[in-house]
Amino acid sequence: MDLSVDIAGVRLQNPVLAASGTFGYGTEFEDIVNLAGLGGVVTKGLSRQPMAGNPSPRLFETAAGMLNSVGLQNIGAAAFVRTRLPRLRQLGAVVIANVFGETVADYVEVIETLNAGEGIAAYELNASCPNTACGGMVFGADPTLLAELVGACKRASRRPLIVKLTPNVADIGVTARAAAEAGADALSLVNTFLGLAIDPETRRFRFARGVAGLSGPAIKPLALRLVYEARQAVRLPLIGIGGIATGRDAVEFLLAGASAVQVGTMNFWDPKATENVLRELTRFCHRHGIEQVRALTGALETGPPATGGTTA
Ligand SMILES: Cc1cc2nc3c(=O)[nH]c(=O)nc-3n(C[C@H](O)[C@H](O)[C@H](O)COP(=O)(O)O)c2cc1C
Repeated sequence: MDLSVDIAGVRLQNPVLAASGTFGYGTEFEDIVNLAGLGGVVTKGLSRQPMAGNPSPRLFETAAGMLNSVGLQNIGAAAFVRTRLPRLRQLGAVVIANVFGETVADYVEVIETLNAGEGIAAYELNASCPNTACGGMVFGADPTLLAELVGACKRASRRPLIVKLTPNVADIGVTARAAAEAGADALSLVNTFLGLAIDPETRRFRFARGVAGLSGPAIKPLALRLVYEARQAVRLPLIGIGGIATGRDAVEFLLAGASAVQVGTMNFWDPKATENVLRELTRFCHRHGIEQVRALTGALETGPPATGGTTA
C-alpha cells in the first residue's frame, strides 16, 4: 500500500504529522515515538528571540477538549537550529518549522535564521498571532494583513511555505484565497478556536488573559467544516488539523479535501497518538482495499447520507 503524499513538492512517506505546540521540538518524544516513521514533525512555534510564555495556569481541561494559553514559549529560532535540528536530522524526522512573530519583519527574520539550517523540509507560518504594528489585529483574521505577511515570507523563504489559518474568521474561503494569491504553497487548518473559561467560585477568568485557545475532539466537526470550505475556495494542498484522535478521524479530513493531517491535543492524552492514528489509518485502507492513501483526498460522496453507516 502506498501511504505517501506530496505537500507542495515535499514528499511525505505518510500523511500523519505531529501538530505544532503539542509535540515540543520533536526530540522530547524520541524515546516514545519513532519520529522517522511519521509523515513529519511540526516544531513548536519559533520566534526571533527566546520567549518565556504566559504565566500559569496555561491549560484547562474542558468537555472533550482543552483550553490553552501557553503564550508561545520557545528557545528562539537560532537556538533551535543549533541545539535541536541536528538531533532531529540524526533521528530521520521530516521537520517542518513553525514560525511566528509580532510584526512582518519578525517573521522574515525567523525565516532567514532558519534558512541557514540544514534539514528543514518546509515552514509553517502561524498566522494566528496579533500584529503589534497594526493595533494587535490578528494577521490571519484580515486578508490584507495576511497577504502582506505571506508575500514577505515567501520572498524570504528558500523552502516551501505552508500557511496555517486561524478558524476565528467569518469566512475561511476569504483568508484561504488571500494566502493562496500571496504565494502560499500549501495551507494547514485550523489553529485553536478562541474560548473563555470562568471559575464560578471566584467569579474570575481562569486564565490571566481571559481568552484562551480551544482544541481537542470538541473542535473536530468545526475544523472539518472549515477544511471542506477551504477546499471549495482554493486548489492548494491542505493539511487538516483539529481534534483528530483516531484513524477514522483522519479519513474524514482526507475525504473533506486534506492531503495530510496533524495530530495535536491527543498527544497530551497519549504520547503515542500520532502512531495510533497512523496505524488505524493504515488498517482502514487495508480493510477498504485502498492502495493509495492519496486517493482518499477530496473523495467525499456528496449524495444524500447513506443509511446503515457507523457513528463512531
Ligand atoms: C498547548 C498548545 C500549544 C500550541 N502551540 C502552537 C504553536 O506554537 N504554533 C501553532 O501554529 N499552533 C499551536 N497550537 C495549535 C495546534 O497546533 C493545533 O492547530 C490545534 O491545537 C488544533 O488541533 P488539535 O485539536 O488536534 O489540538 C498549539 C496547541 C496547543 C494545545
